[in-house]
Amino acid sequence: MATQPTQQVTSRRSFIARAGTGVLGASVLGGGMLADAPAAFAKGTLSHGDAAILRFLAAAEILETDLWQQYNELCGIQDHEVPGGRGNKAFTKAVTQLDSDMAQYVHDNTEDELTHFTFLNAYLRSRGAAPVNLDQFRTLPGSTATGAANRKRLTNLMELTVDTSWWTRYRSRHGNPDLGNSFAQAVPGLMRGRFPAIPRTDADLKPAKHLQAIANTAGFHFATIEQGGTSLYPALAQRVNDPEALRVVLSIGPTEAMHFQTWSDKAGNAPPLTDPTNGLVFPDLNKKPFAGQNFQTNLIMPEPTKFLSRKFPAVSIVRPTETKGIAMGVVQFLTAMGLFRGQSQAFFTTLTTLAQQADAARRHG
Ligand SMILES: [Fe+2]
Ligand SMILES: [Fe+2]
Repeated sequence: MATQPTQQVTSRRSFIARAGTGVLGASVLGGGMLADAPAAFAKGTLSHGDAAILRFLAAAEILETDLWQQYNELCGIQDHEVPGGRGNKAFTKAVTQLDSDMAQYVHDNTEDELTHFTFLNAYLRSRGAAPVNLDQFRTLPGSTATGAANRKRLTNLMELTVDTSWWTRYRSRHGNPDLGNSFAQAVPGLMRGRFPAIPRTDADLKPAKHLQAIANTAGFHFATIEQGGTSLYPALAQRVNDPEALRVVLSIGPTEAMHFQTWSDKAGNAPPLTDPTNGLVFPDLNKKPFAGQNFQTNLIMPEPTKFLSRKFPAVSIVRPTETKGIAMGVVQFLTAMGLFRGQSQAFFTTLTTLAQQADAARRHG
């Protein structure tokens, strides 16, 4: 592996030298480095394995887009980039308690997901592989609260069981799920029931603490979703063979980490409270019995931790990144969260098949 980057640089330079001062030689990167112009598309059909990995990612992005659109309709910015919905004033205000820029961030995250699946499907087609379309499974009823678009959904944001263990996982200096560790919940109550992350109807707009609890649930759910994407891309990249397909995976993946980092920061601003309608508690994470290294709200950068083997020094990393079974792991994680509550057997069969095909892909050589 160590020699590969060097070889690539060498061959790229000699390619530029051969191209002389034509279009390729004339293109300049910031910093004055010569680089080739946008490369011609890689030619040829993708292998079954590479196509399966990109198809699973396209499916995951379609599902992400569907859930983010529901958020954007109610608490984001509705515009030509992310159309649909009219916004819900009360809910937007509650979400804004986490940060005054939440509406912009929700909008931008939604647009990112839209472009992720649209690009992946276009790329799959360009390399002779079938794109992914889940439209037949848009069957779930959505929110009927003021502002929501009247359309059927792929995902259900109204009965979520949100795993918030990413909070302590990224703050731990010793634990790594790839080394068998498990992690405490930041909001234990969110794992003990089914909670709406959007107002289901206008009846959810009060009392104020109930609506704030829904906004807080959304705030933690944002990060729970995006930490999943942050792990999924590097985990799958390890089994991609085609260099350009690998470039696609490596170029989209880090944007999921940018999302996660943002949401990880905002979740820490969720006001501590108890929902008077169902007893759901959002604790003050800076106070006992929480508090300290594993909970402190401003520790939003990943703490260095153990990686690969405990014999190595600690390192700041994404975790988990184990590649074996990652696609099915993601399907199980999203299913356990209640994101697909109400979906048909045919939906689960389709998603499971896409995951199994991605998990069957192997890296050659
Ligand atoms: Fe994405
Ligand atoms: Fe994402």
